[in-house]
Amino acid sequence: MCGIVGYVGPREALPLLMGGLRRLEYRGYDSAGVAVQENGTLEVLRAEGKLDNLAAIVTTHPSAGHTGIGHTRWATHGRPSEQNAHPHVDCGGVTAVIHNGIIENFEALKAPLVARGHKFTSETDTEVAVHLLEEELANGHTLDEAALAVLPRLEGAAALAFISAKDPGKIVAARISNAGGVIVGYGDGENFLASDAPAILEHTRRVSFLDHGEVAIITKEKVTFRAITGEKIDKKIETITWDPIAAAKSGYKHFLLKEINEQPRAISDTLLGRVERSSGRVVFDDNLKMDEAFVRSIPRISFVACGTASYAALVGKYLVERLARIPCDVEIASEYRYRQPAVTKGQLVVAVTQSGETVDTLAAMEEAKKQGARLLSVVNVVGSQASRVSDDVIYLHAGPEISVASTKAYAAMLVDLYLFAIYLGQRRGTLDAERSRKLLAEAFHLPTLVDAVLQEEPKVRALAYRYHAARNFLFLGRGVNYPTALEGALKLKELSYIHAEGTAAGEMKHGTNALIDEDLPVVAIALKDSVYRKIRSNMEEVRARAGVVIAIATDGDDEIVGKADEIIRIPAVEELLSPVLAVVPLQLLAYHIADRRGNDVDQPRNLAKAVTVE
Ligand code: AGP
Repeated sequence: MCGIVGYVGPREALPLLMGGLRRLEYRGYDSAGVAVQENGTLEVLRAEGKLDNLAAIVTTHPSAGHTGIGHTRWATHGRPSEQNAHPHVDCGGVTAVIHNGIIENFEALKAPLVARGHKFTSETDTEVAVHLLEEELANGHTLDEAALAVLPRLEGAAALAFISAKDPGKIVAARISNAGGVIVGYGDGENFLASDAPAILEHTRRVSFLDHGEVAIITKEKVTFRAITGEKIDKKIETITWDPIAAAKSGYKHFLLKEINEQPRAISDTLLGRVERSSGRVVFDDNLKMDEAFVRSIPRISFVACGTASYAALVGKYLVERLARIPCDVEIASEYRYRQPAVTKGQLVVAVTQSGETVDTLAAMEEAKKQGARLLSVVNVVGSQASRVSDDVIYLHAGPEISVASTKAYAAMLVDLYLFAIYLGQRRGTLDAERSRKLLAEAFHLPTLVDAVLQEEPKVRALAYRYHAARNFLFLGRGVNYPTALEGALKLKELSYIHAEGTAAGEMKHGTNALIDEDLPVVAIALKDSVYRKIRSNMEEVRARAGVVIAIATDGDDEIVGKADEIIRIPAVEELLSPVLAVVPLQLLAYHIADRRGNDVDQPRNLAKAVTVE
């Protein structure tokens, strides 16, 4: 959730740390700080609020240190404030720590430290780590020895980095459990540290990813690795091939608008190379290792995911059950591990995740693995933890998604899950050649069709400006577009801060109808599909109670005219692919309402891009 950067080398650390933090600000943005070490001293600069506040302080406090660490925070323990911003320092102000995650036993660790005279200056769980380190350093240990003594005592999930004026020119970083990534970047006579690759990609593409229980000892000359238990370990150096330039805003007002508009391209990239010309079969690359015998024997699939990804998974369930006839369930990942799930022998668990670092999803995967499931992740970020702990991986190829609200990754998830359902159906004999050919042909029209929906933006913006002051919204969907209603409501909530609810339209009469009045805009996904008649009746029920209906309707559907107060059109498409098109006007609606209300669209309050705490 928080962002971490580090540098050790011949260059001044401060500008490099600030540059890295700029690229990580989406991870957390309620406070930020840096610690720079040189000539036996440690200088710490911190500020509450956005990174610009820290940047203003840095300008007036230039520091020429060559070793440093930096942090953007998303508060868990302790409110957002300068005092709770990282780095935290020991009593002597010579050793500093930055941390992403939660140290669950911090209270038990803090009490004896306080009793021994340590002065705590923050309300955070993090600060215990640096006071424990202080004691080890006072015993004459080096920074890495001290860290190896302290780390096994920390419970919970943590990615940490330490520097100390007592052991200059060194950063010690560690990963405990699933608390976000720790990446070491190799330069020439200099080395880097980051929680996410974009923070260091302009300096190096050669990296190593820390796994659970691993520690990196980084100096400008070399990086060595140890297990938290002390043994030396070797790590593979990997090369990151994707382009950080793609992460820039390219003239759009917000990353979100750029990413919404990138969906045709993201979908093309997701489809690329996935259909074998000679056989017409869906094929994935070598990251999908399951053999045909396994595919034919899968008794059941459980999807685990959070937020938007869980809505993509709900569509996935619909697709797999329809096309491959495998029973599926969708589990909110944060619930999965605490309810003692019963895993069926030979079961496949599919994690759907943009970042591949969402701690709840990783924990659910761990639980499923423990119970003997085979793990597949459908994931965007290459080399993320989810991809590394899975038996099989299907990448989204959506490109970097920066805005906190997920849009193009959602589209790519829907397309990957569609392909996977066809893949399963083809191998299990539930899909004949003619039906698969038609389904795949439709998929290849998607980029053009999504582009056509994007042309409706002026209409959606006008609609957004008419309804931006509403206090509540309701989204209705049925069948494969029930998850679209859930996603439309989530997008609106997180971006505009308007309360919204997504409901299966058939459920209205069981309670939600009581909410309907002239002040409640109701967005109905009313496409010409197998449930068209049903949702039309639900719209009538809303209008009969003076509700305002905004319909997402199919091009050329004349019957709907006069049945809704507002109509946004999308092209006709295969029903199983319609969620990919239907969600686009809902993304644009949420974006324009949020922008009209003056909200921070790319970094909505209280949220972060990768949720690496429980
Ligand atoms: C989406 O707009 C959200 N910000 C959020 O629900 C997100 O989808 C969720 O946190 C899961 O993230 P992941 O895909 O990176 O696992």
